[in-house]
Amino acid sequence: MARSAKLIIASIVLLVFGFCMYNRPAKTLAQLPPPESQFLKACHVTWNRFNRHAFSPDMVSSTLTPNPRWMINEITTKEQKQIQSILSQPFTFFGEGAQAIAFQSKDEKYVLKLFKMRRFTPSVLDQLCPHVVRRRLRNLHWVFNGYKNAYEDLRKETGVVWIHLAKTNDMNQKLTLIDQEGCLHYLDADETEFVVQEKAELLFHRLERLAHDGKLAEVEKAIQSVCTLVQHRIDKGYADRDKAVSNNYGFVGDRPIQLDVGRLYKGTKERQLEHVKDRIERWKSERVSS
Ligand SMILES: Nc1ncnc2c1ncn2[C@@H]1O[C@H](COP(=O)(O)OP(=O)(O)O)[C@@H](O)[C@H]1O
Ligand SMILES: [Mg+2]
Repeated sequence: MARSAKLIIASIVLLVFGFCMYNRPAKTLAQLPPPESQFLKACHVTWNRFNRHAFSPDMVSSTLTPNPRWMINEITTKEQKQIQSILSQPFTFFGEGAQAIAFQSKDEKYVLKLFKMRRFTPSVLDQLCPHVVRRRLRNLHWVFNGYKNAYEDLRKETGVVWIHLAKTNDMNQKLTLIDQEGCLHYLDADETEFVVQEKAELLFHRLERLAHDGKLAEVEKAIQSVCTLVQHRIDKGYADRDKAVSNNYGFVGDRPIQLDVGRLYKGTKERQLEHVKDRIERWKSERVSS
C-alpha cells in the first residue's frame, strides 16, 4: 500500500479512537496512563474547536484586565462566607444562551453564569476589522452593565446574588464545573468573570406545570406577578433590549425574577409590559389549541 494511504488510514483510526474516548466521562480519562490521557486531551481540545456545543474552559476565560467600572463595593464577612460556601459546590451544566452558559449548584439553589468571552473580547484577527472590535466591546459593555445594574439596584428582582466581573487575587477558590458530557473542569475563580444567581423555574415551565395540575387560579396569579415585576422594573427606570420572554423570566419559589439581564439598561422603551403580556397570551392560545 502506498505510504500516503497508510498515513490516511492511521489518521482516521486515531481520530475515531479519540472521538470515542472523548465521549467518556472525565473520571475514565483520569484513570488512563499518562501518554493516552495526553493524547485524549489533545483530541478533546481539537474536538471542542469543531463542536460548538461542547463546553471548554477557554470559552469562558478571558484576557480582560480588571476594569474599575465593573468592580463592586466590598462585601461583609458574612456575605463573603455565603459566597464561598455557594462556590465550593460542584456546578452542573444547566443551559446556555447566545452570551452566557449557566451551571446549576449541587444544592440546586443557585446558578453560576459564565460568559462566552469570545463574543466580548476582540482577537488579534478582529483588529483588522474595526467594526468587529467595536461590536465585541459594545456587547461586553451591554452585558456587564446589565449585571452590574441588577446587582446594585435590582437584586431581589433578578435573583443576582453576586457578580465577579473584574478579576481579583484574594478569592483563592476553584470553581468545579461538570459539562454536558459529564466531564469535570476546574476554573480559577479569581481569574474568571462570572455571576452567581438564584436558580429559577422558567416562566412557561411553571405555568405549564400549574395548568397541567389544574391550578388555574395559580396560573393567573403567577402571570399577574410577572407583569407586576416588569412594571416595577420600568418604574425603577430600567428597560430591556432583549425581546425574549420564555427563557428570560422565571420563579424562585413564588417570587418572579428576570433571570437574563444582559440587555438591561437605564432608560425607557415603548410597549415593554405589553410585549410580555402579548407573549403570555400567545402561550395561552397555543395551549388551548393544542
Ligand atoms: N437563574 C437562572 N435560573 C434558571 N435557569 C437559568 C438561570 N440563568 C440562566 N438560566 C438558563 O441558562 C440560559 C442562558 O442564560 P441567559 O442568562 O439567558 O443567557 P443569554 O444572555 O446568553 O441568553 C437561560 O435561557 C436559562 O435556560
Ligand atoms: Mg437569555
